[in-house]
Amino acid sequence: MSSASRWACECGCRAQHLNRLTVVCATLAAGVFLVLLGILSGLYDVGADRPHTAAARTLLAMLRDRSIEHRIADIVAPALDDPARVREGAEHYSAMCVDCHLAPGITVSEIRAGLMPRPPNLAQQPIDPRVAFWAIKHGIKASGMPAWGQSHDDDEIWNIVSFVRQLPHMTSDDYRAITAVEASEEHAGAQDEHGHGHEHERAHDQ
Ligand code: HEC
Repeated sequence: MSSASRWACECGCRAQHLNRLTVVCATLAAGVFLVLLGILSGLYDVGADRPHTAAARTLLAMLRDRSIEHRIADIVAPALDDPARVREGAEHYSAMCVDCHLAPGITVSEIRAGLMPRPPNLAQQPIDPRVAFWAIKHGIKASGMPAWGQSHDDDEIWNIVSFVRQLPHMTSDDYRAITAVEASEEHAGAQDEHGHGHEHERAHDQ
């Protein structure tokens, strides 16, 4: 097909189409130029003690949500109401997550105050279990959210998801009770076969 026939149309308004195309291309080029200028000039503040601009926040949230949505289609959640799973998850949560994501009765943390984006308070927002599983396993680049799949298998991550699902329905007494039980069991059974206490100590040392 020649380029002339490609641009010809029934009403013969070829010039109008070309004009529109030029405007779209020029706008896109200007957008890319502005983003590059913003990056290369060093004007954008990457310090974690200042919030992102609204535009950067929107773009990053869109990037995160679309990326995760695109990757969770084949994930099938196991039964998440199993109390044994929830208890196991509680142990992991209180050792690995609470400092960033808080819990009922735990509303401040020193590390959370210095993170940007601020980690969501998982005690206050219900989350799709498949999104949670993916985010916990793979982490989220340039946000402080680690990829726990590097040190935990899928089953352990589902345990954490089952606990995270319960968090918004828990009181501070519930949270204290379930994590205190786990802490005392871990202390009493430091040599037990799953050896989580040891693993976590090592993880904190690195
Ligand atoms: C060092 C801080 C830090 C630790 C530790 C951490 N997270 Fe995160 N997490 C974040 C940040 C920051 C985000 C937000 C990332 C973003 O929005 O781009 C996040 C996001 C998430 C999300 C996604 C929320 C959403 O709506 O998409 C889940 C779920 C999550 N974390 C669960 C956990 C769990 C469970 C643990 C423990 C196993 C954990 N995180 C440990 C910082 C942390």
